[in-house]
Amino acid sequence: MNYATRRFDAVIVGGGGAGLRAALTLAEADLKVAVISKVFPTRSHTVSAQGGITAALGNVEEDHWHWHMYDTVKGADFLGDQDAIEFMCRNAAQAVYELEHMGLPFSRLETGKNAGKIYQRPFGGQSKNFGGEQAIRTCAAADRTGHALLHTLYQRNIAARTQFFDEFFALDLIRNDAGTVIGVMALEIETGEPWLFEARTTLLATGGAARIFRHSTNAHINTGDGLGMVLRAGLPLEDMEFWQFHPTGIPEIGSLITEGVRGEGGYLLNKDGERFMPRYAPKAKDLASRDVVSRAIAQEILAGRGCGEHGDFVLLKIDHMGADTIKERLPGIRELSMQFAGVDPCVAPMPVTPTAHYMMGGIPTNLHGQVVVPVQNGPEEPVPGLYAVGECACVSVHGANRLGGNSLLDLVVFGRAAGQHMLAYLRENPFPQATPQAPVEAVLARLLRWDRPTGSERVALLRAEMQHILQAHCGVYRNETLIRAGIKKLTEVEARLADAFIDDRSRYFNTARIEALELENLLPIARATLFAALARTESRGAHAREDYPERDDDHWLRHSLYFRANDELDFKPVRLKPLTVETIQPVARVY
Ligand code: FUM
Repeated sequence: MNYATRRFDAVIVGGGGAGLRAALTLAEADLKVAVISKVFPTRSHTVSAQGGITAALGNVEEDHWHWHMYDTVKGADFLGDQDAIEFMCRNAAQAVYELEHMGLPFSRLETGKNAGKIYQRPFGGQSKNFGGEQAIRTCAAADRTGHALLHTLYQRNIAARTQFFDEFFALDLIRNDAGTVIGVMALEIETGEPWLFEARTTLLATGGAARIFRHSTNAHINTGDGLGMVLRAGLPLEDMEFWQFHPTGIPEIGSLITEGVRGEGGYLLNKDGERFMPRYAPKAKDLASRDVVSRAIAQEILAGRGCGEHGDFVLLKIDHMGADTIKERLPGIRELSMQFAGVDPCVAPMPVTPTAHYMMGGIPTNLHGQVVVPVQNGPEEPVPGLYAVGECACVSVHGANRLGGNSLLDLVVFGRAAGQHMLAYLRENPFPQATPQAPVEAVLARLLRWDRPTGSERVALLRAEMQHILQAHCGVYRNETLIRAGIKKLTEVEARLADAFIDDRSRYFNTARIEALELENLLPIARATLFAALARTESRGAHAREDYPERDDDHWLRHSLYFRANDELDFKPVRLKPLTVETIQPVARVY
């Protein structure tokens, strides 16, 4: 099979916020940078981030990056690496000002001594003075912050002459015998033609994979393509048992109702009209961290206090805020609610339910975005030439539970850091290496497999079965029996993949082929999730085991690493030592 070849200094897989932030650093240094994206870049999932980006600017009240760090470590249920968390929180203000100077149209404070400065709103799990009163820390562009951020970065990349390859689907990493990554193979969706992108540095920024679940706030494109590539390359994934269920998705549809709604004063009600969160989190109430709020909603539903015919959702009330405030601060939410729930939140409460939203785990990296692998009896080592940032990566700043507003921050802080490290790496490694043929041929064979004309299994059906399994067997609450049954069912679905086929074997815009390739990424991610969830016999953050309800720091203050070969699991310690400040010691986590 023929394929086109192009050579760059850096190839970035993914056109969301993380990929574009890294690409910008490289392109502004006059390097030859390719961004390959399976959708037009401004359709990447970053565009749907609503509530904001968290940074201790102190525009509304006194604030400090160290307080933000404390909240992030606590929110992560002490599983986050404290050096990475310090790095992110320390660099947050600079990252936000940088975006402001690039032209990101933040909302503005209208009154007070800081009128005209960037608007900030309260978000869950954020406190003043190490666990004190609620902080007001999350910077917002109304309820479309991700949209504003993504368009700003895209425009700056166009100005910097980043080369975009839109609607290209990345297939696999190409590594040589020494393990150095020398680029990726991708499929041009329009023509069906394979391309080899050779580069001295490759960065994966392919976003999340919550499409392994049936109910998800994630776009249909979030199929974990970078994670699939990494697993096929024999590299591990970290902390895959930790999936965040956002408390407020629209039932069935999954669309996100931002936490900013509760930040602006909205609150949750059960079917009796009771504001129930004070029973679960007496101090932070509706602004406790997401794992706490999602479990509270699940408990209300289990206790028969859910709303609707099936008692499977609760209500989010904001009409008391007044129509003018809602229209100004939450215009997108009002639109979503009217369109998908048939409710105008200016007059009635919105139906909401916990919905798979974010993957705290991912491809293990260091602070520079270098992908790292464990080495026997030694420190982790970087995979030469390979980087990962954003949701697909696990650096790990979110540990067992991410705080809202820290995702956009992670993208830009570590996107920039990875870009800078790649610059240095490229200076030290000025010569391209030869491309080995065997891995290229293997990718082409995987692609050609979908041209086989017959089979008895449908891709869409297998995907739906996988999503049902994960939803039912690894949701907000799990236990050993449930997870083992999920593994058995998933194994059967995986076996059936061998007999799957697609009707459409044309070359041009063959979306059936893309969906088949996406399923080849989703299935091993689902498997990694179940195996890691089975192994962790404790409850921590978003991983709530009914059979092990307590956190167990003696045994489980460590990260899991899942390898595809034999479903092998390894573990590594949490980095408890920050860069410059004292360790935040694990204590009981209450809100
Ligand atoms: O609720 C939200 O606006 C989501 C924000 C986030 O996931 O960071």
